Amino acid sequence: MSRVETLIRDMTLAEKLGQLTMTASSYAVTGPVIAGDSTESIKDGTLGNLLNMVGADHVFEMQRLAVEGSRLRIPLLIGLDIIHGHRTLFPVPLAEAALFDPQAWTLTAREAATEAAADGLAMTFAPMLDVSRDPRWGRGVEGFGEDPWLGARMAEAKVRGFQGSDLSAGNSLAACAKHFCAYGAVTAGREYAAVDISERALHEVHLPPFAAAIASGVATVMPSFTDLAAVPMTAHVALLRGWLREEHAFDGVIVSDYNAIAELINHGIAADLVDAATLALKAGVDIDMMSDAYRRGLPKALERGLVTMAQIDTAVRRVLTLKEKLGLFEDPYRRGGTAEAPAAIANRRQVARSVGARAIVMLKNEKDTLPLARPMRCLAVIGPLADAPAEMGGAWGAAQNAEDHVSVVAGVRAALPQVEILHTAGVGIQSGDQHGISKALELCTQADEILLCVGEAANMSGEAASRAHLGLPGEQRGFAEAVLEHAKALGKRVIVVVFSGRPLVVPWLFEKADAVLAAWFLGSEAGNAIADVVTGRVSPSGRTPITWPRDTGQIPIFFGQRPSGRPANPQDHFTSKYLDTPNEPLFPFGHGLTYGRFVLSNLRVTPDCVTESGIIEICVDVSNAGARGAQETVFLFTRDPVASVTRPLLELKGFGKIALEPGATGTVTLQLPAAELRFLGLELKRVFEPGEVELLVGPCADRSQLLVKSVRLSG
Ligand code: GLC
Repeated sequence: MSRVETLIRDMTLAEKLGQLTMTASSYAVTGPVIAGDSTESIKDGTLGNLLNMVGADHVFEMQRLAVEGSRLRIPLLIGLDIIHGHRTLFPVPLAEAALFDPQAWTLTAREAATEAAADGLAMTFAPMLDVSRDPRWGRGVEGFGEDPWLGARMAEAKVRGFQGSDLSAGNSLAACAKHFCAYGAVTAGREYAAVDISERALHEVHLPPFAAAIASGVATVMPSFTDLAAVPMTAHVALLRGWLREEHAFDGVIVSDYNAIAELINHGIAADLVDAATLALKAGVDIDMMSDAYRRGLPKALERGLVTMAQIDTAVRRVLTLKEKLGLFEDPYRRGGTAEAPAAIANRRQVARSVGARAIVMLKNEKDTLPLARPMRCLAVIGPLADAPAEMGGAWGAAQNAEDHVSVVAGVRAALPQVEILHTAGVGIQSGDQHGISKALELCTQADEILLCVGEAANMSGEAASRAHLGLPGEQRGFAEAVLEHAKALGKRVIVVVFSGRPLVVPWLFEKADAVLAAWFLGSEAGNAIADVVTGRVSPSGRTPITWPRDTGQIPIFFGQRPSGRPANPQDHFTSKYLDTPNEPLFPFGHGLTYGRFVLSNLRVTPDCVTESGIIEICVDVSNAGARGAQETVFLFTRDPVASVTRPLLELKGFGKIALEPGATGTVTLQLPAAELRFLGLELKRVFEPGEVELLVGPCADRSQLLVKSVRLSG
């Protein structure tokens, strides 16, 4: 008999329920802490999993209690939210998505896994795969933006990176596809609010990244806090048992979100913990994170015949099997047994710096204001985010040492040792204090160039951080306007660096600034990464993975919208538009300037007719007509103008990159399997429909900037 079956045979009910329970140590509180002494429970075998514990010494102490002190010596599974790095932070996921580079996404996950495993951890609650098209919602920062195809690519890359090729290896973590699903569609962008979307949107938009994660072998899945069309995800039998376990053959562990099982009572589908535990177990949730509903509710549910011991055993089997796959039975001290070499940590910082620079999206660059490559005696680096290392980590900083992050001031000082760097914050990030503005204006008078660093605090995005107003917080607008006006009067240019976990709605800033860099939250090496781009050592190549609204009133705004029967027409009153703002976003998906100037031409598509099994080849010539070398990203969209259902105005199907020196021309070649043009027909089943499909190639999701060719699909 296998180890797992032997254990199940020998375990008491309390020990079984212990394996289905995960409680938090006090290291990093990521939700309402529910008291309870985990050490006693570990010793008597009634607690099998922990979260929020960091440090091999602490982890080993807990593991020893389990594997040397408890009756059945079952090792603990210990996890943490390693969302974008462990101690070394990489850019937040929304920023990383801007690289459009799956290899980089895998690399940072691999680095994070190695660093976290060296701290004794075996699981991360990542990647977060929620499609986000509503910047009012704070958690978009944790994901990859608005597009499901991009999300699927990110899912594949992150699972590969976190789990490696061998889940039992000492530097592999069990990944967790979360939050299953459609959490990003919360009503009005309000955190934890209800979700009510069409079945089509669910299958076309929100599920594909999870399907990709499962196909990539993700070890665990976490249902979202939210309900979906009146069924809370933590009890959603149709999606957890039906879609996840049966249709997609997911046999890994489903771990609830923090206290989510008990919150079924608040949702109004459970009268008490017994009900809540019953609903969750029957839906297929294996581990109860932090609500203690399983330990307190399932014994009674069992007595009342609401659940069976077989159902409990099935969950325990999956948890023990995961621990076996992780190698925890073989060697519970494998992770954390060896400290990392300083060279490995130094190299990781270099990766963070390089990925950080590539995550920066240059939104505007009037008259080649950037790079700052002209002679300069004195540079003013002002604003509340200029010398704010603790903010650079962004949301979900895990085990970061926030003071270790490189600030903009520090990065610029290191990059420009011969330049005098003047700094003042001017105003607080959210405070009402405006006393520093006059000092800031003085520094602008003294300086040759001005770098203005504004934006959100790290905690203004992430969980429980929805915003109804998407401007600059606090008194930053007044401050920025004063700086811009003063600089204009002095005939000086202003480079604005915007820090945020979402697109900000600040059209006035983009209009008045000479250059704007979206720096999101770039992690440990933020200041160096920004300095690399500002000084021209690195040409910006980031492209925004999310649409930047012109007005909050346009939200939700995204490129994959469906057509209207009355498409916008300024000459015709009765068409799809607003009375008080244009339909177009401020910056479309994929927008991002470089230090080159790229021109696309000569789009060719072969063959011009293809069957479902065929491959379409798309080639486009790219020239750099600029004065500096740079890397261009070319996107491939499709548009199906006539089909059995209405089809999105644009669908992302691929991208390519090319680096070109000034004056050079190259060709980007993309392959598109015709099968990728299948879509969900009237019955929500995949269909391949004969007819013309447009292939659109260009720098962003703005049709006016795309080259178009058609291909005919034949049955
Ligand atoms: C939080 C988040 C989830 C996280 C979990 C553990 O509330 O919703 O993303 O993984 O709790 O920290």
